[in-house]
Amino acid sequence: MATTVLRHVGELTTNDPSVGDHSPMGRIFDAAMVVDDERVLWVGPDAQAPAADEALELHGAAVIPGFVDSHTHLVFAGERSDEFEARMAGRRYDGGGITRTVHATRAASTAVLESSTRARVAELFASGVTTVEIKSGYDLTLEGEARLLEVAGAFSDEVTFLGAHVLPPEYANRRDDYVALVCDAMLERCAPLARWADVFCEEGAFSVDESFAILGAASEAGLGLRVHGNQLGHSGGVALAVELDAASVDHCAFLSDDDVNQLAASNTVATLLPGAEFSTRAPYPDAARLVREGVTVALATDCNPGTSYLTNMGVVIALAVREMGLSCDEALLAATWGGARALRRDDVGHLGVGARADYLVLSAPRAAHLAYRVGTPLVAQTNRARRGARAGTP
Ligand code: NIG
Ligand code: FE
Repeated sequence: MATTVLRHVGELTTNDPSVGDHSPMGRIFDAAMVVDDERVLWVGPDAQAPAADEALELHGAAVIPGFVDSHTHLVFAGERSDEFEARMAGRRYDGGGITRTVHATRAASTAVLESSTRARVAELFASGVTTVEIKSGYDLTLEGEARLLEVAGAFSDEVTFLGAHVLPPEYANRRDDYVALVCDAMLERCAPLARWADVFCEEGAFSVDESFAILGAASEAGLGLRVHGNQLGHSGGVALAVELDAASVDHCAFLSDDDVNQLAASNTVATLLPGAEFSTRAPYPDAARLVREGVTVALATDCNPGTSYLTNMGVVIALAVREMGLSCDEALLAATWGGARALRRDDVGHLGVGARADYLVLSAPRAAHLAYRVGTPLVAQTNRARRGARAGTP
């Protein structure tokens, strides 16, 4: 396999604390990195760079790991900008709009869902995302959820079954029947198409007991667990996620001291979604506190038409720095290594030797420019390591 050496990297962020400055970012200044089509082979000072088949001169540009966006709802039809406008004028978000997207998605052809998902994945990749998780959850029928998972699976291996997003309208007075459908027939049909199961555990969606039943069934069906928890209030979703050893609990906008202590002592990542607070005009969680208390934090876009129609991880990082109290380095770590932990992956989210060669060359000398120059497209080059061929991947 041909090798390439990147020369004169002004600031290389490896997220491997065993190299460079031995910080969590594993920084090496005036660095070099050798990769092949799949993996990182060597990192170190440029003065010690080994020879390779090809050399790429970077003239002091910063290099970082590709972003790991561990929470998206990319497969949907329609849009809800009218709800965004209403919220900016003072209306509260309560999840009620989800069924509008369900109706639009059910009515859309598979070809339309594929092409719109492809376009959104392309936007994410353009902003430097190299690993993306994609959820179902906008159909809420047995065959319909399977259809959304199949569309998602053409673009990612990190596919999540979210049949328990909200109660579909046709089950309005039959909650127990829908929960039973999700736990039995829907899971049986959908589990082979997904790696993860997720539940929206919130007032207006699913209770802690219902979520417990659904996640238990999903775990028995061989799926890893994720939870939408504590987005709109103290829903109990965080404690449930920790109790079930979910890989991640996402949103975490309302946290008790107990929640924070439990997260800190657990293997469950707190995934923060500042695009959702931005777009619902909600208070941002105190990410600095979580980091201080030893919680592993991830940042993701939550791209969806209701609460966060956002495909730019640079903007997510900038919001986390400006509004959630993270340092530029903590936010970068959360958008890369944190996302990888939220997907329980150790081959992405860092550039230690042996990692996938998923890296970004920035048109900036330091990674801090991602927040400092918010909104500016600073990803000059994305390298996504070779994977098995997937139909539809842009
Ligand atoms: O992560 N909260 C639940 N699900 C999405 C929003 C879905 C929607 O409003 O369409 C979220 O914010
Ligand atoms: Fe979400």
